[in-house]
Amino acid sequence: MAKQSALITGTSTGIGRATAELLAGNGYRVLATMRSPDKGRNLADAAKAKGWDLQVLPLDVRDEASVQAAVRQAGEIDILINNAGFEVWGPLEEMSVADLQDQFETNVYGPFRLMTSVLPGMRKRGRGIIVNVSSLAGRVAAPLNGLYSASKYALEALSESLHYEVGHFGIRVHLVEPGGVETPFAQNRRVVGAATGDKSSPYAEMVTQWEASAERLNPGGERAQPEAVAAVILEAIEKGDRLRYPVGQDANLVLNVRKQMTDEQFESAMRAQLGLTW
Ligand SMILES: NC(=O)c1ccc[n+]([C@@H]2O[C@H](COP(=O)([O-])OP(=O)(O)OC[C@H]3O[C@@H](n4cnc5c(N)ncnc54)[C@H](OP(=O)(O)O)[C@@H]3O)[C@@H](O)[C@H]2O)c1
Repeated sequence: MAKQSALITGTSTGIGRATAELLAGNGYRVLATMRSPDKGRNLADAAKAKGWDLQVLPLDVRDEASVQAAVRQAGEIDILINNAGFEVWGPLEEMSVADLQDQFETNVYGPFRLMTSVLPGMRKRGRGIIVNVSSLAGRVAAPLNGLYSASKYALEALSESLHYEVGHFGIRVHLVEPGGVETPFAQNRRVVGAATGDKSSPYAEMVTQWEASAERLNPGGERAQPEAVAAVILEAIEKGDRLRYPVGQDANLVLNVRKQMTDEQFESAMRAQLGLTW
């Protein structure tokens, strides 16, 4: 069988980079896309040294022309991995519509642009796999991440609908839902209002309390490594028999508890676990 080709967005760091390396090491033809290809020089060098079939391509998911150019350059795409994403973080009252649009532009419109661009080819070939990197935040919303969570809930809904629509054509859709992962994600988030450390904000105390309590979700202090998420993405590609793949002890713990409880029971349990009195 011919080599499967996988286009991955956001491969400059973190989960995207780990996934590009894992797939290339496992014999896939990898289109490792990133908005600043300069950041991919060491990935291209590593690929050369290891004899991987990996090409770095420019792709900014917010730019329609850039998406079209990358998809054209990539040729046949068997697997699409929508990984690029970021977080706008802060209290909702202190956010603007522009913040909401900014969040959705990358985390929702970006994956949508890519999915609609690759689907015609996948449908004609009667096969294809789409893996969307969502989050625990796509299943459970928390204080301060309302915009991010809304974007991942939207990605979950798009993926769930698409999964019903295209399974008939031989195309699989999967959602990978990590909890906290050891990547530059937190440093890369854009903070707003009280989250910037503005002590005059009415939400300042909540930010302090939430930051202190969030660590309690990972009692051993261990966060998943990006390689663990990449391994689950590979599992979804190779064995994919379900829509959703949570990753990490925090994601599994919270989702299991969530399944067994009413909204009110879940809120009390989480408040008790996190020591959240706000
Ligand atoms: N880390 C976590 O705790 C965690 C948990 C759950 C889900 N996730 C999800 O996992 C995915 C990857 O995040 P990560 O943890 O690996 O974080 P990361 O290290 O910050 O990586 C994010 C990647 O997205 C890229 N990106 C951002 N905006 C882009 C755009 N407009 N076009 C193309 N690429 C863009 C970044 O590129 P630049 O280098 O150019 O900025 C970077 O390569 C995201 O969708 C995130 O929501 C992360």
